[in-house]
Amino acid sequence: MTELGSALITGASSGIGAAYADRLAKRGFDLVLVAHNEQHLKTVADQVVAETGVKVDIITADLTSRTDVRRVEQRLRSDNSIALLVNDAGIGTPKPVLDEDIDFLESVVELNVVTAHRLAVAAAQVFAGRRRGGIINLSSIAVLHPEQVNATYGATKAFILNLSQGLHREAGPKGVKLQVVLPGATRTEFFSRFGMSIDSRFPAEQIMEPADLVDAALAGFDQGELVTIPSLPDMKDWERFVAARLALGPNLSHSKPAARYGLTGAGLLHS
Ligand SMILES: NC(=O)c1ccc[n+]([C@@H]2O[C@H](COP(=O)([O-])OP(=O)(O)OC[C@H]3O[C@@H](n4cnc5c(N)ncnc54)[C@H](OP(=O)(O)O)[C@@H]3O)[C@@H](O)[C@H]2O)c1
Repeated sequence: MTELGSALITGASSGIGAAYADRLAKRGFDLVLVAHNEQHLKTVADQVVAETGVKVDIITADLTSRTDVRRVEQRLRSDNSIALLVNDAGIGTPKPVLDEDIDFLESVVELNVVTAHRLAVAAAQVFAGRRRGGIINLSSIAVLHPEQVNATYGATKAFILNLSQGLHREAGPKGVKLQVVLPGATRTEFFSRFGMSIDSRFPAEQIMEPADLVDAALAGFDQGELVTIPSLPDMKDWERFVAARLALGPNLSHSKPAARYGLTGAGLLHS
């Protein structure tokens, strides 16, 4: 076991998760790599071991299966060496909701929400008990323009942002470091899974390489950022967005509806 302990990375068989595996191993973490495709996981594991010599375990799991997810959760809870969770596994769809198979959309929710929630909460509970540990959750810039992405996918990533902010409030004071990462378009298998080229959807100047994304995200983690948006040139833009949200606070719950609804008298609603 290295001094840093181990990092458990879901979705480590390709794309952003594989880039986290590479970078965290180079920082000296041992790894527990989780994904569905065993062959791809082995390829990532072999490369990391050859380059860094750290210890790498792989767990092959279908993270839309609750039985498999509980196996991964059990590893998180029982392995005292695990000091970092990278909650990365996720899928989307290029089709709009109205054209997509509803069972597939439900599997997107299962993976991106139910599983990510289960593993993040399990890690938060375990790490808070040890007063040490970190959780990195992968959201998306889709949360900032839900009108432009598949509605189900955008909603799952908004869940991850809110979950991370809430967990930070609860577990942060107990020594657990939270980060939520909002990537923009990143050159991974995300689109090619659907037979699509990312280049056909975005201009080159909007597409980031996964290694650059992860290097920036880890720099943000080191700097103690809760929300990391690797592409955003000026974090003050995000801070202004949060400030506008917080300014709504005093007006979000009142005993009477707002005047614009015209409900001035108590019985008006039913007259
Ligand atoms: N690429 C982008 O433009 C972009 C932008 C914003 C956010 N993100 C987010 O970044 C995260 C990583 O995505 P990526 O871009 O790196 O895509 P990717 O290359 O397609 O990687 C997705 C990872 O999730 C795993 N996965 C998918 N379904 C699974 C299942 N049922 N069980 C277990 N593992 C499963 C895949 O493993 P297997 O291949 O083994 O199934 C793979 O390792 C996702 O949460 C995604 O929403 C991506």
